[in-house]
Amino acid sequence: MCGIVGYIGGQQAAPVLLDGLAKLEYRGYDSTGMAVYDGREIRMVKATGRLKVLDALTKGGSTLSGTAGIGHTRWATHGSPTDTNAHPHFNGSASIAVVHNGIIENYQKLKKKLENRGYQFVSETDTEVVAHLLDRYYTGSPLEAIAKVMHRMEGSYALGIMFRDHPDEIYAVRKDSPLIVGKSSQGNLIASDVPAILKYTRSVYFMENEEIAKLSRDSITFYNIDEEELVKEPSEISWDISAAEKGGYDYFMMKAIYEQPKAVADTMSPRIRDSRIVLDELGMSDEEIAQISKIYIVACGSAYHAGVTGKYVLEGMARIPVEVDLASEFRYRNPILDTQTLVIVISQSGETADSLAALREAKTRGSRVLGIVNVVGSSIAREADHVLYTWAGPEISVATTKAYSTQLVALYLLAMKFSSVRGTISEAEFTSMLEALQQLPRQVEFLLGSQERIQKFANRYLAADHIFFIGRGLDYAISLEGSLKLKEISYIHSEAYAAGELKHGTISLIEEGTLVVAVLTQEELYPKMLSNIQEVRTRGAFVMAVANANHADLEKNADYVIYLPEINPYFTNSLAVIPLQLFAYYVALGRGLDVDKPRNLAKSVTVE
Ligand code: AGP
Repeated sequence: MCGIVGYIGGQQAAPVLLDGLAKLEYRGYDSTGMAVYDGREIRMVKATGRLKVLDALTKGGSTLSGTAGIGHTRWATHGSPTDTNAHPHFNGSASIAVVHNGIIENYQKLKKKLENRGYQFVSETDTEVVAHLLDRYYTGSPLEAIAKVMHRMEGSYALGIMFRDHPDEIYAVRKDSPLIVGKSSQGNLIASDVPAILKYTRSVYFMENEEIAKLSRDSITFYNIDEEELVKEPSEISWDISAAEKGGYDYFMMKAIYEQPKAVADTMSPRIRDSRIVLDELGMSDEEIAQISKIYIVACGSAYHAGVTGKYVLEGMARIPVEVDLASEFRYRNPILDTQTLVIVISQSGETADSLAALREAKTRGSRVLGIVNVVGSSIAREADHVLYTWAGPEISVATTKAYSTQLVALYLLAMKFSSVRGTISEAEFTSMLEALQQLPRQVEFLLGSQERIQKFANRYLAADHIFFIGRGLDYAISLEGSLKLKEISYIHSEAYAAGELKHGTISLIEEGTLVVAVLTQEELYPKMLSNIQEVRTRGAFVMAVANANHADLEKNADYVIYLPEINPYFTNSLAVIPLQLFAYYVALGRGLDVDKPRNLAKSVTVE
């Protein structure tokens, strides 16, 4: 995934582009670049490394003069991170400049054809093909050339384009990769995501697939692929700017961890009215809910882990069979779906290519698709039949925390709605669950108070090579998430294991001093978990236990215990995740790593 910005207006463009790119670095940060029209030529500067390299090269943008430009921050897909592969890319005569987010899937074929026509390439990227293709079809009309190129490209693209002959315009094109257009008093902008332009405007157009935008200094015009003008209405963004800034925290991740009580409350409160759960956005009548024969939950990474929690909760409460699948597996295994199957696609960004592809696969097989998505207007949100938005607000750090927690809440609400419609839980059980659910924000807040204690404990494991997470049932689901959090930001190898499965092989890896994090919140499984803790301790493991507060005896059986406030057993993942997030954060911090931008990762993986 990459980040794109563009600006045309009365101000110098380069500083505006740098400012926008700084808000998009979470989308990819292995190389950056800008192109600005200086009155005669399109001047370009690009470099491997983080945005600060480009900032220094251009002295904060001052060496690139001009009031129209495009910029890019890259997460390499085709071609390693080098200056040459960095965006923007030129055609041969440097009269066309392009920045791109996505993958042109038929780029080799197009490149071959262009080479046969004498075009010469300098980079390994698919994006450079777009620049030369535009050159091939450009006869004076940018719109016509763009439309012709769109007809020939396959794959996903969000493009920012400049034409030297049209210095008072920049162009934006969108297919499957997000792209927005902003209208402001200082000029008009394009960007991959809202935080990049929030400083200049709250009036934003979300581009749809196969739309083209032409931006001049004082106008914005939209067209479809047939070059017909379109009328679009802008959306008003309600986020405040601080929501997209660090707000005094060292890292966006810690800010998001501390925003969880609010994110959880914001996601549930609007949907609880007069002690009922109201999910109008589901678009499903009670009859349709009663007819659901099976649910598939499909997602990637942490969203998949939320789906595993969803399985236990939906099956336990609503007694509907639930299958959870990795999106990248689901779409290639010829899934058995029908019109009675509800497919739930969970995605924070709403742009994950595997999850989007799985959504399309489900729709072609006639199933209703519900999106659980955090980014309004994202591809998955717009292509799902219905969307249950998680109101976590913008999540900037690559490792998800608050968005994941709101995904759990969305699944709880769904399970309670379905179970009350299908009559699988009593009125009394429903009321008790609702009360427990509404306690969640306060209990999460309470657990955040254990930050210092967890930091001290985490500092003992900065040099660990392997850390294991074990649990049963819902505690296995949260172990998956705890393990991924640790891996992705601390780079320590970790595995999550169903505790009952450990003895079937993996226990051979447990040795003196190995840290095992045992989650035991499911009371009916508590005795079994105690046995599993004994199994690993007798083999030398050091055990950190996460359990309900009523088990003071646990300190005889574990070396370090985090107690959780009492809550309905279905909702314990929302509490257990807090110490696991804090643990991962402090291990990464103690190892001196960039918590928000872990190596090799990007916030949303828009490539398969
Ligand atoms: C989670 O911390 C990771 N950054 C990653 O696993 C992420 O959850 C996954 O890529 C799915 O992203 P999505 O929710 O935006 O679809």
